[in-house]
Order: sequence, then C-alpha cells, then structure tokens
Amino acid sequence: MKAVYIEEFGGPEVLKIGDVPVPQVKPEQVLIKVVAAGVNPVDWKIREGYLSAVFKHNFPVILGWDMAGTIETVGTDVKGFIPGDKVYCYSRMDAIQYGTYAEYGLANANAVARIPGNMDFYTAATIPLTSLTARQGLVDVAQLSAGEKLFVANGSGGVGGFAIQIAKSIGAEVCATASSKNHAYLNAIGVDAVIDYHTDNIPEKIRQFASDGVDVVLDCTGAEDVEGLFKYVKKQTGRVVTINGLEQSIPVLESCAKKYDVKACMFHVEADGKALAQITELIEQDKIRPLPVEKYSLDDAAIALQKSQAGHVCGKLVLSIQ
Ligand SMILES: NC(=O)c1ccc[n+]([C@@H]2O[C@H](COP(=O)([O-])OP(=O)(O)OC[C@H]3O[C@@H](n4cnc5c(N)ncnc54)[C@H](OP(=O)(O)O)[C@@H]3O)[C@@H](O)[C@H]2O)c1
Repeated sequence: MKAVYIEEFGGPEVLKIGDVPVPQVKPEQVLIKVVAAGVNPVDWKIREGYLSAVFKHNFPVILGWDMAGTIETVGTDVKGFIPGDKVYCYSRMDAIQYGTYAEYGLANANAVARIPGNMDFYTAATIPLTSLTARQGLVDVAQLSAGEKLFVANGSGGVGGFAIQIAKSIGAEVCATASSKNHAYLNAIGVDAVIDYHTDNIPEKIRQFASDGVDVVLDCTGAEDVEGLFKYVKKQTGRVVTINGLEQSIPVLESCAKKYDVKACMFHVEADGKALAQITELIEQDKIRPLPVEKYSLDDAAIALQKSQAGHVCGKLVLSIQ
C-alpha cells in the first residue's frame, strides 16, 4: 500500500512516500481503508523524534494518528462494526508504527466511532484527536461546569476550536487568545471574549472577563511559560490544565499548584471510541461544528507538515488519501 513514512528521525528530508506492507489485524483491531488523514502537530514531532523517549517506535514508522474511511476488515473479537461502516478515529497504539498517512490504517476497535451523519470523510478526519483532547481536558480533567469561566490559551488551533465549542455546550463562559486575523472566526464559534495575544495586555483582559480569575485555564499553546498561566486562575477552586506535553513542565506545575493553591495538571489525550461517539452526537445536534479545513494530497504531506510546524494553522489540515 502507498504510505508516507520515516526510517529515521529528522526534518522534512527524512519523509518517504512509497509502498509498505498492509498491517496485519489483531483480534481486537479493525483495518480501515483510509479516505482522509488528519494532520496534527504531533505528526511532525514524531518525525523529529521528540516522542522517542515516551513511546517505542518500530521503523519504518507511518506518520499520522487521525483518520476517516471505511472498515475493510474486523478482527475476530470485534463486535459492533462490519466491513463498509463509515468510521473515524484517533488511533494511537502502544508502539508507534502503523499511522494513518496510508491507504490502510490500523486501529483498536475501542478507539473507533461512526462518522457523523452526512459528514464527508475529509471533515471527519480532522475531528478525533483535537476534539478528544478538548473534551478530556475540560470534562474529565478540569471538570468544567455550567456557569464557570474558562480561559483558552490559543483558541484558533485545532484543540482550541473544539475547546471553545465544548465549553459553550456545557454552559461555561469562554475567553481565548488569537491573532486579530482570527477574531471573526472565534466569534463565529461562540467565544464570549477574545484577546489579541500580540497586542493586548492579557492579564488585564482576563481580569475584565473574570475579576477574581477564571475557574479553568486550558493551555493549548505548547509554550513553556507554565507559571504565567497560574496568574489567570481563581485561588483555591481554580484548575490549570496544559497539553504542552513537556515533561520538564511537570515539576513547575506541581510547585505552582502549591504556591497559588489551585489544582494543576498536564495530560496526554487517550484514544476513546465511546467519547468520540459522544462528540459525534454533539456534532449531529449542531452543538459543535467542525473547524475550517485545508486539504492536501498524500503526495504533499511534507508541505502540510511544514505548514503545521510553522504554527499558524487556523482550524485543521487534512490529507486526501484515495
Ligand atoms: N497533550 C496532548 O495530548 C495534546 C493533544 C493535542 C495537541 N497537543 C499539543 O498542543 C498544542 C496545540 O495543538 P493544536 O493542534 O491546537 O495546534 P495548532 O492547530 O497547530 O495551533 C495553531 C494555532 O496556534 C496559534 N498560536 C500560536 N502561538 C500562539 C500563542 N502564543 N498564543 C495563542 N495562539 C497561538 C496560531 O495562531 P497565529 O497564526 O495567530 O499565531 C494558530 O492558529 C501543540 O503543541 C500540540 O502538539 C497536545
């Protein structure tokens, strides 16, 4: 099958496009004929080797964790899916090897959900990883509730776009940072207050939004200024959640949690087909809308990854496979 893969870590030059074997399906897995693969920052981070200490990598590594397509084969233990089902998923295995930038992708069946009714595969492929991150960060970790105030650092990226909408669907009030070019987009997806991270005084703007501090901060910037986040949150009951993925942030988070007397956590998104099915319901009820999508061919995966790495994608990027 055709796939985009790497045989060593490195920059765009290590990316290869060529034929690799179709993965073998284990009893608990499904093989998906991929129509579209979502592009996430983690894909170029894997290419660069940033996650080599966290996950085992078996080369050749096919890049990509998000996909939408039709079920080709079901493992012997799988119930609830049959060949031909239109599905999507965030597929991350214990070892990094079979990604989604390929004609066929492997997933544990418990990571898979049916795509929202009438949605095309290209839009669907952009949803799983980022929407699950937003949901797990806000619902499972921060336990955001109706009437609370949330600050999203980076509202224009993939995670932020879903975080704003999920928070609104819960009944929270949301402010978020974005460049002025993206303010109209954030307003369209329901943000209550938007802060220009280039020109505004962010602490002052947050005080105007929540005079005692917000209840929850969700940091989607990938930035290292962890202590800065604690200045925005309410003492004692506040929660600071970061997805920056930097192990060196954990001791800082722990010491700041004590110093500012709030809860703090860094977490990594988990594959979860049931949670994805709940997100599907919110989409079908029009409580969450997909983000703007920019489409590339599989052959242009290197260009898409460069664009992601430059850090200014508003919404999502997707690769067309078939
Ligand atoms: N821990 C986890 O499980 C997990 C899960 C998903 C993602 N992540 C990580 O979380 C980060 C965000 O992911 P993503 O998919 O949302 O990224 P993304 O879509 O690539 O984010 C791009 C957006 O970030 C904005 N931005 C850049 N710097 C900013 C800043 N200082 N303040 C506010 N906005 C800023 C850009 O706007 P401008 O053009 O205006 O700069 C752009 O619209 C990445 O580092 C990713 O690897 C972690």
